[in-house]
Amino acid sequence: MDVMQAIRIRRSVRSYQETPIPAELLDRLFEALRLAPSACNYQPWRFIVVTNPETRTRLAAACRNQAFIAQAPVVIVGCGFPAKAYQRMGGSGNSVDIDVAIAFDHLMLAAAEAGLGTCWIGAFEEKAVKEILGVPEEAKVVALTPLGYPSEPGLLRPAEESRRLPRAQVIAFERF
Ligand SMILES: Cc1cc2nc3c(=O)[nH]c(=O)nc-3n(C[C@H](O)[C@H](O)[C@H](O)COP(=O)(O)O)c2cc1C
Repeated sequence: MDVMQAIRIRRSVRSYQETPIPAELLDRLFEALRLAPSACNYQPWRFIVVTNPETRTRLAAACRNQAFIAQAPVVIVGCGFPAKAYQRMGGSGNSVDIDVAIAFDHLMLAAAEAGLGTCWIGAFEEKAVKEILGVPEEAKVVALTPLGYPSEPGLLRPAEESRRLPRAQVIAFERF
């Protein structure tokens, strides 16, 4: 499968099998995270891999009770260190959210290629997630994702065209 195919079939998967993920496959996905680009190559991040069922259940509760998160055998939590990230993006912006987001997207595409589902989780109580995982004060939780085999293989398939804005609305040439 090429990158474009992985981009096409990646969907937010909200129903998972309990089937464990082979260790070699997990290693591949960790490489996808590790090799991602970041502003100035600061790599201001740490990704927590959670397999403990009780911790997964607590995390799902901290994500506005999105129970499907705990269904997957693995939950990955993307954290960033704002103080270690590039501070002058566009003049004064902090790059940490973008850095972690790029790495997460790498992970999600590599997962799709391997037949694994993910779902970007942005609805979470940061304080609760930090407490559950012992995330230090100076770190920020940017996103979570469940990771596992979809309950039905058909859940990874190209999105219907109607679910995305038409090209003319999102791509501009030469000027805004
Ligand atoms: C920043 C961000 C936060 C999101 N938060 C959640 C979430 O908390 N729960 C959820 O089920 N989906 C969440 N999603 C998934 C989006 O709903 C989904 O990506 C979008 O509807 C497009 O569908 P697709 O991923 O299947 O292509 C989030 C996506 C992004 C990019």
